[in-house]
Amino acid sequence: MAQHVCPWWLGYVHLLPIRRLLEPPARIVGPHLRAGMRVLEVGCGMGYFTLPMAAAVGAEGKVVALDVQPRMLAGLARRARRAGLADRIDARLCAPDSLGVEDLAGRIGFALAYFVVHEVPDPGRLFAELRAALRSDARVLVVEPPGHVTREAFAATLAAAARHGLRPAAGPGVAGRRRLTALLEPAG
Ligand SMILES: C[S@@+](CC[C@H](N)C(=O)[O-])C[C@H]1O[C@@H](n2cnc3c(N)ncnc32)[C@H](O)[C@@H]1O
Repeated sequence: MAQHVCPWWLGYVHLLPIRRLLEPPARIVGPHLRAGMRVLEVGCGMGYFTLPMAAAVGAEGKVVALDVQPRMLAGLARRARRAGLADRIDARLCAPDSLGVEDLAGRIGFALAYFVVHEVPDPGRLFAELRAALRSDARVLVVEPPGHVTREAFAATLAAAARHGLRPAAGPGVAGRRRLTALLEPAG
């Protein structure tokens, strides 16, 4: 596994209640979700966004949550069971260099990559796999942490996305002056 992958215990830090004030999930992902939607989340950690997304898509929807660390997925599974949302979440262990989501081709309405692309060894391949999973009307929200990622590196990330058929879309990103955030859509 690449050395810069965030350690599993940080999964607990990402769930601290203070985060809900700074990064309210309903405000960040809510505008992009509809009942019955199929959602793909890359780098779900212990499910800070996964659970609110599973609640928002309803009993007919599904969140496919991917992570490279089994301990993150174990934390997610525990929390999902407690919240009564386990049946709406398809948690999958993926490889660092591949999402392995060929079975989802053309089925995803919304994809989230929150604070993860800088940890992925091959962002080009990530975006190619994401692109293949999307419906034609899908949106992809990419957010990177300003502390770890420079504006230049984020521009390179968006260039990689563009090379793989994802262009900027109109719609809400994530508020905040320092945030590195992009809402993308299939280029055609
Ligand atoms: C900084 S954490 C963010 C977790 C979550 N998105 C959040 O905002 O709370 C990054 C997560 O991405 C996962 N990750 C790192 N590299 C990955 C890869 N190549 N594919 C999928 N997940 C990855 C890590 O294991 C970790 O759970």
